Amino acid sequence: MTDVTLLPGQILTYRVIGGVLDFYLFMGPSPENVVQQYLELIGRPVMPPYWALGFHLSKWDYGNLTVMRDVVESMRANDMPHDVQYADIDYMDEQKSFTVDPINYVGLGEFIDDVHAHGQRFIIILDHTIAKMETYEPYTRGHELDVFIKYNSDTNEELIGRMWPPGDNVFPDYMHESGINWWTEQCHQFHNTSLDFDALWVDMNEPSNMIDGSVNGCGEDRWNRPPYLPKLYKVFSGTLYEETLCMDSDHHGSTHYNVHSLYGHSHAKATHRALEKIFPDKRSFVLTRSNFPSTSRYAGHWLGDNKSQWVHMRWSVIGMIEFGLFGFPFIGADICGFIDDTTEEMCQRWMQLGAFYPFARNHNARDAIPQHPTVFSETMTNVSRDILLHRYTLIPFLYTLFYEANTQGSTVVRSLMHEFPSNVEALHVEEQFLWGPSLLITPVMREADVTVRGYFPDVRWYSYYSGEELPEYERGTWVTLSAPLDFIPVHVRGGYILPTQEPANTTVYSRRNPLGLIVALNDEQRAAGNLYWDDGESRDPVDNGAYSLLEFTVNQRRLSMSVIRDSYVPPDNLAFSLIKVFGLDSAPSSIEVDSVTLSADSYTFDADLKVLIIEDQTLAMLEDHIISWNN
Ligand code: GLC
Repeated sequence: MTDVTLLPGQILTYRVIGGVLDFYLFMGPSPENVVQQYLELIGRPVMPPYWALGFHLSKWDYGNLTVMRDVVESMRANDMPHDVQYADIDYMDEQKSFTVDPINYVGLGEFIDDVHAHGQRFIIILDHTIAKMETYEPYTRGHELDVFIKYNSDTNEELIGRMWPPGDNVFPDYMHESGINWWTEQCHQFHNTSLDFDALWVDMNEPSNMIDGSVNGCGEDRWNRPPYLPKLYKVFSGTLYEETLCMDSDHHGSTHYNVHSLYGHSHAKATHRALEKIFPDKRSFVLTRSNFPSTSRYAGHWLGDNKSQWVHMRWSVIGMIEFGLFGFPFIGADICGFIDDTTEEMCQRWMQLGAFYPFARNHNARDAIPQHPTVFSETMTNVSRDILLHRYTLIPFLYTLFYEANTQGSTVVRSLMHEFPSNVEALHVEEQFLWGPSLLITPVMREADVTVRGYFPDVRWYSYYSGEELPEYERGTWVTLSAPLDFIPVHVRGGYILPTQEPANTTVYSRRNPLGLIVALNDEQRAAGNLYWDDGESRDPVDNGAYSLLEFTVNQRRLSMSVIRDSYVPPDNLAFSLIKVFGLDSAPSSIEVDSVTLSADSYTFDADLKVLIIEDQTLAMLEDHIISWNN
């Protein structure tokens, strides 16, 4: 056990009661290098399927299938982007994993077919414990295979705790091969015989127990009562096993004390293994609540049970940035807040912020008022649709950032400090964040505010929406931006090129639409960017080489679009149609696309904004192109 305290003044205190300490120092020099070096050691994050970057919707306790169906249909009726629908524990029979409520959720299987027919996906929750019932196959089979954790190493008795399913619950050992095989078998069987889910959400796996230790308490030994307790534990009940397992309980080959923090990791890893069996050729994904360094090789994570409070919205930005540093790029908080009732204004602001969470899910607790984006006023519905369509426009860029995370250990969400490490002012920014190096989001996270202050390091910044440049005198300063309720400020950094795509209500359809580029020039009139593309869901596309890669650069008034690799050929004749160039130093006198001069009606140049827009092109995705402009 290690108690680590971080104090101001760059002091770290370690208190330990034994064991071996291994330290790894990552020398950077940049923060981005440090994360890459760390991930070189622990493993790089999983590549999510393309659809997982769409919008997800969830609620604990819709009550029954009719309500869930009404919500999904209201999303469709309002043309709301919606890729993934969830079922929380209320779909289960008495909250037992691998069962379906035969009364309230009768017909769930057919409903999932309907979800699939609309190009959408369905995710179900599974909890970590198993109800100890002689009539419940997951238990009897697990007991037969001896997969449950024991009270201690002297007894063969399964440790009994409490969780959602009423009565006695046992805890599978997901670290042991037989436990993993049993879990895989249960998930596989449930998928084949009951619900055609697309991915799995695993919860409560810290591991949580609704009583301390077990129904029989815990023994007075050195594992349960070590000679030193970290301060956090002293604040609560003074025991290490509060709302978890007895520390001397016995896993195959280890005592819980030694592997407690690995429980969620092993659960996520076993679930990843199960999904490999269920979908041998397809990428699925695991969403896990508990994790450990390197869990992101197998899973994404949400920030847990937040509240519908403005301060929790602000904390989510910090949480997301921190998980980026831990190598967990597929991260987000419950949009609109989980516990307690949201207000329409808060939810609208949170939908705007959440549209920029890498993992964008609106999830809501039992007893809280409904908060799906179509339940509020028409204005709120319109604003949510609008910002989600912007997200979908940018998914090609986001997906490319995930490719870089997966192959190089890069971060997806970054703080300004991360990107501008020598800028002292950037150290104080905790309410803005970037996607990669180039897209800066400045959300409004305070009630009734219609302006927001943001810091803009001294480089060129353009409004993502209009291409309007931040005035030169505001570079390197804190700026008060106008942000009425229907608007979230988003800026593109000069020097970068972002790939885009015409949006749709699901990624199945958006992936077939024309592509685009946002070219944001820097002070030297240069820019660069790239696009990664694959079929969005086959397994290990990078290892299998089944992908294409494009590089874009602007230099000397020439935009080169170069195909670096063309091993994945998209089925829909994908082509670039819309090219926006922000920050031209003067009006172009003529424009050539692949050596052909464009007629004056196929582009516009806004002399005030200095924005060039070239539309309605058909520049085949897997061919090289040159666009050039003259003064
Ligand atoms: C936990 C999860 C939450 C879920 C609930 C019911 O509180 O964190 O997301 O809705 O359990 O399953």
